[in-house]
Amino acid sequence: MKFFLDTANLADIEEAASWGVLAGVTTNPTLYAREGGKLADFHSHLKRICDIVPGPVSGETVSLDRDGIVREGEELAAIAPNIIVKVPVMPEGLAATKCLSDRGIKVNMTLCFTVPQALLSARAGASYISPFVGRFDDISEDGIERLADTVQSISNYDFGHEVEVIAASVRSANHVVKAALIGADIATVPFAVLKNLVKHPLTDRGLESFLADWEKVKNS
Ligand code: G3P
Repeated sequence: MKFFLDTANLADIEEAASWGVLAGVTTNPTLYAREGGKLADFHSHLKRICDIVPGPVSGETVSLDRDGIVREGEELAAIAPNIIVKVPVMPEGLAATKCLSDRGIKVNMTLCFTVPQALLSARAGASYISPFVGRFDDISEDGIERLADTVQSISNYDFGHEVEVIAASVRSANHVVKAALIGADIATVPFAVLKNLVKHPLTDRGLESFLADWEKVKNS
């Protein structure tokens, strides 16, 4: 499973990239607003992310009609070769995905909650599909079970192009573990979750014990 960062924070992206684990980034208007982003700087901010990240960077469209989404998607795709246009699952989004993918622009279909939404996204030409996990948990449903259904259904068919499933709306290390066991291609995670994935109390305890022993060796 590959790791994407779900953020618009440049410092966090730089740090994760320096660990050598960052395969891509997903952003959305909420994440950009959280960084105090201004509309006028949106494209230059995405360009800065694309310069740091050695992989796909999803930038989301906000139009609600096909032509608007296509126009925005073409503008986003012109920012850098590694931009992926993020489009919500809805009829206009599917139509726009068809247009964009026919023009060689890769699409990540987002806000995906059901198997039919995922299959339709793939048929419309999406290269990435983002089923949301945590938002099911928010309504006391099992987001991981839904993710498993989506991963299985996508792997059942050949869509004539590569389709990767991104576990999105990931809130915890447990979500990441389960997504990996299910076989999701990618998990996109907040930086706080990524930092947690590196840690284990036994690693900390082992490190403390090595260092204490090393002190003894040095003083012997
Ligand atoms: O990748 C989608 C993600 O940004 C949504 O996460 O935590 O708002 O459900 P969340």
